[in-house]
Amino acid sequence: MKAMLSTAVGGPDTLELTEMPDPEPKKGQILVRVHAAGLNFPDTLMIRDMYQFKPPRPFAPGGEIAGEVLAVGEGVDNVASGDRILALTSHGGFATHAVIDAVRAVPIPDDMPYEDAACFIFTYGTSYYALKDRGYLGDGDTLLILGAAGGVGAAAIELGKAMGARVIGAVSSEEKAAFCREIGADDTLVYPRELDGRDAQKALSAEIKKVAGANGIDVAYDAVGGAYAEPVIRAMAWNGRFLVVGFPAGIPKIPANLTLLKSCQIVGVFWGAATMRDPAGHAANMRDLFALYADGKIKPRISASLPLAQAADALKLMEDRKVMGKVVLTME
Ligand SMILES: NC(=O)c1ccc[n+]([C@@H]2O[C@H](COP(=O)([O-])OP(=O)(O)OC[C@H]3O[C@@H](n4cnc5c(N)ncnc54)[C@H](OP(=O)(O)O)[C@@H]3O)[C@@H](O)[C@H]2O)c1
Repeated sequence: MKAMLSTAVGGPDTLELTEMPDPEPKKGQILVRVHAAGLNFPDTLMIRDMYQFKPPRPFAPGGEIAGEVLAVGEGVDNVASGDRILALTSHGGFATHAVIDAVRAVPIPDDMPYEDAACFIFTYGTSYYALKDRGYLGDGDTLLILGAAGGVGAAAIELGKAMGARVIGAVSSEEKAAFCREIGADDTLVYPRELDGRDAQKALSAEIKKVAGANGIDVAYDAVGGAYAEPVIRAMAWNGRFLVVGFPAGIPKIPANLTLLKSCQIVGVFWGAATMRDPAGHAANMRDLFALYADGKIKPRISASLPLAQAADALKLMEDRKVMGKVVLTME
């Protein structure tokens, strides 16, 4: 097998394409021939030792895969050789083969291409859990998404529309705004690529209020953080829910009085932990998501598909904020 290994702490250029013996599944595990691996922002953090989980080196990054089961270990009865599956892997996905716990395998529909399957669970799982289980997004609510053209952001646009919301996509360029409208956003706004100082924050808040209208933002989905969070909270509606999803721009510090003034909530979203704490709820959400996919209401927007050997280029696209929708690695 081949794997793109992180052997030293650092950026994408530290990854090394390495030939290794094929692994064997142990009790409760399966061997998967990986066809595609989706990229997610945490992959960029993990290789720099900046993520909450730090796998021992050498390791291949790659938190979600889709492929075909090649062999099953002792005691596995939920999947069989030949099955087409997707799985969350935490890491190890940037490889031609992966051994995973069988319980992580999710069968995929026959007509779902491996590339779609490899870009499905992380973003749609996160955004559906965030909007439905943490934000209680309702029909007719106004939803604002920061980082709306990124992986989880684009998923939130499609899901927000499927759930009946009015969706405002906020992004750092006109090109990204056009992409958001193309995939369903009702309105867009463009924020500066760097948001420096109080005046810039005030201007952004004023613009959000203008686009939102008199009521303000019922649900905010923050996949960006940093200085961008506070202007959004200042534009929340009465009883609004501000969802804390990610911090590519840094961890924001919010004055607590802002929640009092709007009687609004700041709500944490930790989807990975939620899938472990509530497996039944996670399974029900996955069933909903496959149904939405079958109905054509959601579809991974893959803007770049690169071979495994170009994993570093793929990660750089993400670090440079160039990704719209998803980037996928293919193993063929
Ligand atoms: N809470 C959870 O359970 C959970 C689950 C999955 C992912 N996440 C988090 O969600 C965030 C987004 O993940 P993703 O996979 O969707 O990433 P992504 O595709 O790279 O999207 C992130 C977006 O953030 C914006 N951004 C602002 N400042 C940035 C910076 N300094 N560097 C990079 N991007 C920046 C970019 O949009 P603009 O250029 O338009 O600003 C970019 O499109 C990450 O922080 C990730 O860890 C959280």
